[in-house]
Amino acid sequence: MNILILGSGGREHSLAWAIKQNPKCDRLIVAPGNAGIAMLAECADFDIMDSAAVVTFCEENAVDFVVIGPEAPLAAGIADATRAAGILTFGPSAAAARLEASKAFTKQICDACAAPTAGYAHFADADAAKRYVTETGAPLVIKADGLAAGKGVIMGMTLPEALAGIDEIFGGAFGAAGAEVVIEEFMEGEEASLFILSDGVNCLPIGTAQDHKRVGDGDTGPNTGGMGAYSPAPVLTDAIMEQAMAQIVRPTVAEMARRGTPFQGVLYAGLMIKDGHARLVEYNVRFGDPECQVLMMRLGAQVLDLLLACAQGHLARAKVKWAEDHALTVVMAANGYPGKVEKGSVIAGLGDLPEDSFNMVFHAGTATEAGQITAIGGRVLTVTARGDSLHAAHRRAYAMVDAIDWPGGFCRRDIGWRALDLG
Ligand code: AMP
Ligand code: GLY
Repeated sequence: MNILILGSGGREHSLAWAIKQNPKCDRLIVAPGNAGIAMLAECADFDIMDSAAVVTFCEENAVDFVVIGPEAPLAAGIADATRAAGILTFGPSAAAARLEASKAFTKQICDACAAPTAGYAHFADADAAKRYVTETGAPLVIKADGLAAGKGVIMGMTLPEALAGIDEIFGGAFGAAGAEVVIEEFMEGEEASLFILSDGVNCLPIGTAQDHKRVGDGDTGPNTGGMGAYSPAPVLTDAIMEQAMAQIVRPTVAEMARRGTPFQGVLYAGLMIKDGHARLVEYNVRFGDPECQVLMMRLGAQVLDLLLACAQGHLARAKVKWAEDHALTVVMAANGYPGKVEKGSVIAGLGDLPEDSFNMVFHAGTATEAGQITAIGGRVLTVTARGDSLHAAHRRAYAMVDAIDWPGGFCRRDIGWRALDLG
């Protein structure tokens, strides 16, 4: 079959890598792709936010199956457009993508199905929000309601911080995403992520992972899109996973179906775990980046069968074949990330690295210039390895990192520390 993946990150490179290994995949196209993706798939350049352009491309290229990677085209209704054109699609409708695109909407769904999550209040004007914060007291978490590329969350550990957060959001720091705020109880605990496929009715957990959001070793410095991840996340035990499925995920999927907006795609549940119990921090309606890379490394070619079963509504019959393995990925970012970065630095040494089912460098912000790989983004490479143990995966991933010659980039040296006990 002819398959089109939308996106250009390490997430989409890893999806392409896994899907390509499945014999059902005849032709693989990624739009817009990147330099790493171009080594294993065709890259096409059209606007993935433009539903007419996506549908036209699919029709002209006899695309049988579309996989949508990032949240922005999902929230913009690209999956609605391709499905309306009769093209099999993996990814939720715009109505179901509200689970990521509106934090207030997710809270209302949690209320409707009694899913455990942080207590909250929701405001459309700064004065009312400030009165609430002053009455309630810190710590509180202040969130822009809409999509803010992972940046719209401000920790109000003290009252002045919380009040300043409200001014920042209503002051336009996150654009239209900050027209409304959600103010949440601060939850303590350890975060981990659970990934679940849903065809609108059935739910199939496909793995757990833990991200590293802060830019620096020891979880210091500003938040980023994620500096590394590993899977499985031991903090998410089988018992906690079952509790999260029973109290959070299945009720959410049932509530979305009841409202006539079934969720079809991958649900990424960010969970806060404390005393053996999980509460929902947030939903995303797509794979995490870089969490996808460790999941793809562990799942391999079967991913295409799972995504197809999800899109076709056959998830009740689908099974995940698990190996007792571990995967870990280290993000290499351009110097300056998550602030302003310089573009164009040359990355050497990639050609000498092994590329197999245990070792893969997935590209994010890369391009090819005069035969050399150059950095053109913030997060640039995700260096990913698999092994019988997390230690083995960790050793392999950092051996690859150390063989990459890129003075223009950096990475964290402690990915996996919570599970590895690196201290
Ligand atoms: P979100 O975009 O909602 O996932 O928030 C980004 C990050 O902020 C999360 O991954 C958590 O680390 C943190 N966070 C969000 N909400 C809360 C909360 N209610 N309590 C504690 N930490 C939170
Ligand atoms: N790594 C976090 C995310 O994809 O949202």
